[in-house]
Amino acid sequence: MVEKEVERAIEALLEERRTFEPPEGFAETANINDASVYESAAQDPDAWWASQAERLDWFQKWDTVLEWDAPHHKWFLGGKLNAAHNCLDRHARAVPDRVAYHWIGEPDDERRTVTYADLHEEVCRLANVLKDLGVTKGDRVAIYMPMIPELPAAMLACARLGAAHSVVFGGFSAESLRERINDAECKVLVTADGGYRRGQVVALKQSADEALKETPSIEKVLMVRRTGEDVDLVESRDVIYNDVVPQASSECEAEPMDAEDMLYVLYTSGTTGKPKGIVHTTGGYLTGVSSTHRAIFDIKPETDVYWCAADIGWVTGHSYIVYGPLANATTGVLYEGAPDTPDWDRWWQIIEDLKVTVLYTAPTAIRAFMKQGEALPAQYDLSSLRLLGSVGEPINPEAWLWYHVNIGGERCPIVDTWWQTETGMIMISPLPGVTTTKPGSATFPFPGVAADVVDNDGQSVPLGEGGYLVLKEPWPAMLRGIYGDPERYRATYWSRFPGMYFAGDGAKRDAEGYYWLLGRVDDVMNVAGHRISTIEVESALVDHHSVAEAAVVGKNDPVTGQAIFAFVTTKVGIESADALGQELREHVSRVIGPIARPRYLLFTPDLPKTRSGKIMRRLLRDVAEGRPLGDTTTLADATVVESIREGASASDDG
Ligand code: WTA
Repeated sequence: MVEKEVERAIEALLEERRTFEPPEGFAETANINDASVYESAAQDPDAWWASQAERLDWFQKWDTVLEWDAPHHKWFLGGKLNAAHNCLDRHARAVPDRVAYHWIGEPDDERRTVTYADLHEEVCRLANVLKDLGVTKGDRVAIYMPMIPELPAAMLACARLGAAHSVVFGGFSAESLRERINDAECKVLVTADGGYRRGQVVALKQSADEALKETPSIEKVLMVRRTGEDVDLVESRDVIYNDVVPQASSECEAEPMDAEDMLYVLYTSGTTGKPKGIVHTTGGYLTGVSSTHRAIFDIKPETDVYWCAADIGWVTGHSYIVYGPLANATTGVLYEGAPDTPDWDRWWQIIEDLKVTVLYTAPTAIRAFMKQGEALPAQYDLSSLRLLGSVGEPINPEAWLWYHVNIGGERCPIVDTWWQTETGMIMISPLPGVTTTKPGSATFPFPGVAADVVDNDGQSVPLGEGGYLVLKEPWPAMLRGIYGDPERYRATYWSRFPGMYFAGDGAKRDAEGYYWLLGRVDDVMNVAGHRISTIEVESALVDHHSVAEAAVVGKNDPVTGQAIFAFVTTKVGIESADALGQELREHVSRVIGPIARPRYLLFTPDLPKTRSGKIMRRLLRDVAEGRPLGDTTTLADATVVESIREGASASDDG
């Protein structure tokens, strides 16, 4: 009985009644405006992906589109190409003066305009320097840099030589860097003296020096002078980029790579403490990211100014700041700093100045902007925008609508894109010229992507029901493994449901087949035998006018299994008080049903987040359980958890 009520209430919450068709005029000029692409791609996925691969420049064409050999599928066998050649050489020839990146530094509104000719030249010189430092095809190179143009240049220089890069996000600690360097046995590290973030200098070289005390594989360090701060230099090891790269030859052949040669490794957290080195290869990856980038962001390379506001240190930056956009000859924006520096209007200023047409960001950023109110973006001319994107977590309908109204001026389609480090490319998303969107839903799998929602036994669930998100057929940009650990690869992704890739996410399809992502399955609570997703409760809380952000975890409970524990951040100027706590509980109870009413509720000035903006529920669970805190090194601000812990204890409704 109760269960049915809950189901219905959740349904009502998720099925935000408004739907949004592609705006008038958008479909006519859209890169894809014919829904038949779904059917034709499903009927012959190999032919569809081959047609997408043909948009690239191959030194030698493939013999076989797909060799199906789970879990080690291979794409475009026999084909040879080079990722840097595809991202640079052909555009430097055809459109040398087109801007590849408008770069903006955090302090003083520093600017650099990097054309395709410039970037091509820089990458060739840099590749020659890396060669001199001993890098050859098949090596691994670690990159630990701020968001400056030398970062994509370093990635592409590796790709040019056939060395795999391992970018470690500049916000990671020395220890995280060391662990990653050692796991992949990197030979060279490319870094910078430092970078700017929130008005502070981040001393990257100093952390790198710390890391390099125990990294036997590293032979040389190439350091960009960015901040000019004093750094220690190790004479036999360290080389200054600014001294050697401008002198190097600008002639450098791009190494012909097999389609299945490794392009990069990128580390991501798993369920254990040891990060997983996700391996991506060349031909399939480049096909997947360029195809999805063009179709989903409707890219018109001649006119668009595209801004993916992620950090290149995460997969979103790899696929949708570097490889996808450059393969498509796109003009992009690269911004070094934080959205609130010097003030919360920095992004809107940049959009007005550069006439940005496409913005791709994360729900967490959108909610941070919501917290500041709509007056800030309203002061700027954002009319150049024509498309908005979201990635990284489920977007709650309220944030979706705020984005739509206050940033998109009610004229821009929103693409909510679901994917993972492992998938390499966007897997579920609207096609902006085809799909009628529903706020909060990522809508449908991309053409050629075979997603499904299954129950515990791997059986597809009927429309209207929830379960586990799986991928039933290979896709070109899929991970090819976990670096050095084939067993973990098999166990993590391919053992839960035989023959299927298990994404670790819960999802639900509504009666019309729209996908609604429900968060990681490990974030799903079980309260008195009822499954309740943390996101559903969070969404209900954020739906309340006083709430800026909320995070919900399950706290162990001897009677009900788990009890709902909510951490709530109120909007600026709103007093957190017991009365509000009760009101919020009532609100959730009203929106979802009494079963979802948070038992514990704690007001907190901030939530602990990773530097990519993901709420660290693991830490919140530790706080909820009163356990010693686990690893906090990936936190953007490590003091947050302590202050939550020291703050008022949660009010108990039970
Ligand atoms: C979550 C980021 C809902 C999901 C590209 C996934 C999303 C994890 C969405 C991967 C979305 C990403 N809606 N959830 N649009 N996009 N996620 O590897 O839980 O950093 O498994 O890749 O983020 O995070 P990752």
